[in-house]
Amino acid sequence: MTRTYIGDYPSTPFPVTDIPASCVHEVFRNVEQWERETDTRAIRLHVGEPAFRPSSAVAGAVAAAVRDGRDSYTTAEGVLELREAVVEKLTSENGHDTDVELVVATPGSAQGLLAVMNALHRPGAHLLLPAVHWPVHLQQCLLAGFVPRFYPMDEQMRPDVAAIAAMDVDSSAVLLVNTPSNPAGALCDTARLGELVALARERNWAVISDEAYEDFAFDGEHVSTAALESDVPPSDRVVFSAFSFSKSYAMTGYRLGYVVAPNSRHAQTLRTVQEASIVCPALPVQMAGIAALEEREQSRRNGAFVRRTRDSALLPLLDAGLLERLPGGGWYALLDCGRTGLDATTFAARLLREHGVALAPASGFALRVAPDSAIEPDPGAEHLLRLAFCGPPELVAEGARRTAAFAGAR
Ligand SMILES: Cc1ncc(COP(=O)(O)O)c(C=O)c1O
Repeated sequence: MTRTYIGDYPSTPFPVTDIPASCVHEVFRNVEQWERETDTRAIRLHVGEPAFRPSSAVAGAVAAAVRDGRDSYTTAEGVLELREAVVEKLTSENGHDTDVELVVATPGSAQGLLAVMNALHRPGAHLLLPAVHWPVHLQQCLLAGFVPRFYPMDEQMRPDVAAIAAMDVDSSAVLLVNTPSNPAGALCDTARLGELVALARERNWAVISDEAYEDFAFDGEHVSTAALESDVPPSDRVVFSAFSFSKSYAMTGYRLGYVVAPNSRHAQTLRTVQEASIVCPALPVQMAGIAALEEREQSRRNGAFVRRTRDSALLPLLDAGLLERLPGGGWYALLDCGRTGLDATTFAARLLREHGVALAPASGFALRVAPDSAIEPDPGAEHLLRLAFCGPPELVAEGARRTAAFAGAR
């Protein structure tokens, strides 16, 4: 009798040791070094740390949980109270038809995304990633053992549906959609998401919808991909969703998010992945999540705050030809410094050195796999830079003004 052992499967193409570190961390280290050497504080627009903080109710919920002894293990998927609050929000605001059994609380949506990929991975399966992507999506793809494929985007950095349809992948493929997106701030509307879901269903692909920036949709409403499947029987649904408390409530250091499985079969696999990886999210943090969901208006205020910064502070970048249009959502803008004659790395290094403004060169957001399996930036991304506009508005405005002036002087 032939038996299949794990070792008989085709091995993953990338050993963990070859997975590239995120370029953002490298920029972070360079900026800190410059700050130490010059004893100056940079205008830090290279990372997305928001100006607003979690409300006192959120912090109080953690303190109360610790004080009251709510500090034990919980079930892998998190306490029912939190999942009930999540379902209430998913139903009333995201248009989902879901259930507490399908929700799994995770330590940040990053861990949630990895859990979904672990749950969906099949030997040799492809993960379809945006050509310009958050580097962590690629790291997770490789960690979970998927073979990455990068799909083209239109001129506004939204998924190009026709090009995705033309990709040669089988039914084990998984399509990742990120709206509003990091790093381009692209927002997908109902029509585009509907076409993507229809394509995935036709091809029998699963979809991972990363909605970490759901409360930061500016040029239109945020559409939650799974809402487009609410009239499909759960057993036939294909969309997994990942949400975060980090952006909407500025709870970046709490590490809390949640994923939603399309049906109970997949939810069970996700619970197993959680049992085996994190056991459960920290209970005091889960209590903070409940407190945050009681203050949904806070997330709307945070969205409006970032929108105001976008509407005013980024205008000099449009005038300088660094930005073609304001980002439709999220809290990052993707600049193109091609007209200055400098590549993004040189532009960022000089901008920091000469004007004290830190941006992230974005070639690490457009990685490709070379024929020899080396991971390299797409040469087409040589002039792209990412600017975060969620920080203090006066600093974002000053940083954007200096960036535009530096580009204009070239
Ligand atoms: C697109 C995207 N998804 C997910 C995350 C993860 O957020 P967290 O793990 O803090 O919930 C981030 C964080 O930067 C992100 O940019």
